[in-house]
Amino acid sequence: MKFGHFDDKNREYVITNPQTPWPWINYLGNEDFFSLISNTAGGYTFYKDAKFRRLTRYRYNNVPMDSGGKYFYIKDNDTVWSPGWKPCKTKLDKYECRHGMNYTNILGEKNGVTASVLYFVPLKTWAEIQKLTLTNNTKEIKKLKVFSFVEWCLWNAASDMENFQRNFSTGEVEIEGSVIYHKTEYKERRDHYAYYSVNVPVSGYDTDRESFFGLYNGFDEPQVVADGKSKNTEAHGWSPIASHYIEVELKPGESKDFVFVLGYVENKEDEKWESKNIINKKKAKDTISRFNTVEKVDAALADLRKYWDNLLSIYSVNSGDDKLDRMVNIWNQYQCMITFCFSRSASFFESGIGRGMGFRDSNQDLTGFVHQIPERARERIIDIASTQFPDGGCYHQYQPLTKRGNNDIGGGFNDDPLWLILGTVSYIKETGDFGILEEMVPFDNDISVSRTLFDHLTVSFDHVINNLGPHGLPLIGRADWNDCLNLNCFSNDPNESFQTTENKTEGSKAESVMIAGLFVVYGRDYVELCKRLGKNDEAARAQKHVDTMVDVIKKHGWDGSWFLRAYDYYGKKIGSDENEEAKIFIESNGWCTMAGIGKEEGMCTKALDSVKERLDSKYGIVLNNPAFTKYYIEYGEISSYPAGYKENAGVFCHNNPWIMIGETVVGNGNRAWEYYKKICPSYLEEISELHKTEPYVYAQMVAGKDAFKPGEAKNSWLTGTASWNFYAVTQYMLGVRPDYDGLLIDPCIPTDMKGFTITRKFRGATYNIEVANPNGTNKGVLEVIVDGKPNNSNLLPVFGDGKEHKVKVVLG
Ligand code: BGC
Ligand code: NOJ
Repeated sequence: MKFGHFDDKNREYVITNPQTPWPWINYLGNEDFFSLISNTAGGYTFYKDAKFRRLTRYRYNNVPMDSGGKYFYIKDNDTVWSPGWKPCKTKLDKYECRHGMNYTNILGEKNGVTASVLYFVPLKTWAEIQKLTLTNNTKEIKKLKVFSFVEWCLWNAASDMENFQRNFSTGEVEIEGSVIYHKTEYKERRDHYAYYSVNVPVSGYDTDRESFFGLYNGFDEPQVVADGKSKNTEAHGWSPIASHYIEVELKPGESKDFVFVLGYVENKEDEKWESKNIINKKKAKDTISRFNTVEKVDAALADLRKYWDNLLSIYSVNSGDDKLDRMVNIWNQYQCMITFCFSRSASFFESGIGRGMGFRDSNQDLTGFVHQIPERARERIIDIASTQFPDGGCYHQYQPLTKRGNNDIGGGFNDDPLWLILGTVSYIKETGDFGILEEMVPFDNDISVSRTLFDHLTVSFDHVINNLGPHGLPLIGRADWNDCLNLNCFSNDPNESFQTTENKTEGSKAESVMIAGLFVVYGRDYVELCKRLGKNDEAARAQKHVDTMVDVIKKHGWDGSWFLRAYDYYGKKIGSDENEEAKIFIESNGWCTMAGIGKEEGMCTKALDSVKERLDSKYGIVLNNPAFTKYYIEYGEISSYPAGYKENAGVFCHNNPWIMIGETVVGNGNRAWEYYKKICPSYLEEISELHKTEPYVYAQMVAGKDAFKPGEAKNSWLTGTASWNFYAVTQYMLGVRPDYDGLLIDPCIPTDMKGFTITRKFRGATYNIEVANPNGTNKGVLEVIVDGKPNNSNLLPVFGDGKEHKVKVVLG
């Protein structure tokens, strides 16, 4: 069952039934100022950091679901309704929510009145714009009462949810004309406030929540709206809100627009005040005046659209399959931008409080984003590397606001350092900017111990070889990519967190075959980088370690029909046929086949066949099999999940592309694509009632074959799945891959795929690539013609001439 449809031309998903199986959301803003918005206008706003600079409040896991947001109440005689259906839930005559690229338009119609609300954050602006358009489609005059509503969060979203003995006394507002200012704590240590304005005179306002709602009413029935008149309250403590009250008269056929601005201001210490206790409103007024007419708002939206036209023109495919094209050209790239901005911090599954930017996550996210805005990727690489320790280890997470490592989570995840090589190499291959390697980058944010970024890569590489276990495989530390395979944790206290509790790494024999595979892949990248820099001795030194690791994996990481997953604390095998449960895991088989380890000896095809046989399911490849059915103290969190969920045999979508890429290494395009379509959301739109999350973005996890309800997804939006699928499908399956010296063309497609065209902008030139597959092959480039002349390899040169180039590729 579907709840809407794709509108590819406008790059929108159009929801036509507000009762989606889960809130289907969108993100506004793409740099500093952000909002999350659901299809019924739920959600919240923050500046940079969803924990420390939360502007509006949100209550996660609430009843009903998704309560609180940017609401409008329209009172038409005795009928009160909201354009997004919620919170009033008055039956609408028409409803439509269009989620687009960083904007959302929600439209409702009731009794001949249409209310359309456009929500977006203009480029380079610390404010959300809400343009409300009311239209009278009747033959009568309509007299409407409109109430806006936002609820201020007292800034720190964590303390906002817990410290009520303080919070209920601190809230402060100022009201001036049609602008409501939220200035809680501004008098003391804060240099920022928020505001909510509208571009017309108001007939009233409210800023005290309980006066607005009535203490015992919900979002669906504010007392003030029922009374049809605001109370002009000024909040003193308790819970400040902002609501404007506007009386509107519409002639038959008439439309009126109202522009609301929800913004954020920072003032310098000596410019904080206008007069005693009266805040300096200059910056707020400047922003409000930038958007005080519909023309200005429409121009800002046009700019935002142009921005996305440009971003999405860098890679686009035309394959004749709409489901594929809309993912590659629009939604997957869009999701990559969002994961780049937020890492795993703020979604409808991540509270914005618990997690900041992940070291491994952000490096992986980069790979899906770097072609869009390489300068921002560059800055991100430096930020991430700055949280590394001199020995190559690193903080697992850092806070976006402070860019400092997060002490609560700490470090010791032994895969983390290697992802910095991936991030950096992806950036250089895209841009050719080797200069980034010369940047001086601090360790642990201490500039007195800065070294070049290249040195950071060296310590990343060395961190693995300095931490090898008894078989010569990498020690796992707290965990590798699989946060839940906690081999040194031994937690027997339910009040402990698997993620943060003290680990017993001393004397542990726990080794990871996944890190070993990862090391081979990124170790080789490191070797090549060294060679390109003329550091031949270093290249040779590194190559030796990589070669040794390949041998060690073949010797100690192979189980006969697939790659082992790990060795536990005591040195016992994990992911082996010898085990009773979880005989086989996806991660090590992904990485070792991506690395082509034992390809000649047939290990790769054997491992991939085992994955197909034991891990594949209707809804994707599960993480391990058989699922754990009891708690293994020596394995930790992974065995804490019920069978089929999350890291315990869920379809953990993030790692499915590793197998897809592995399949391309052995040339099995049919299988790679079969896997792709199983988890790609646009192919799941028809089963939305089962899949549950948005059909336009990937979810982290889909319940696996052992679960109660296989196929049900959770944790959409903020997942490494976005970048890995984009990377796999664009670079290894459609096969257009940036490399140091040009664009490599190496598709691996299903035999029945006749061909496709790709437009790729790369280092200042545009490549119009036409790929034909006349003989129904999977892989192999027979012929490449560039601008009418044969090209003697499948590497397209760097033109850098600002021109378009015609490329014809024949597979065979
Ligand atoms: C989740 C993992 C996640 C980790 C992050 C765990 O509880 O299951 O998926 O990576 O938390 O800290
Ligand atoms: C989500 C985390 O963000 C990521 O870092 C981790 O690799 C996966 N879960 C798997 O546990």
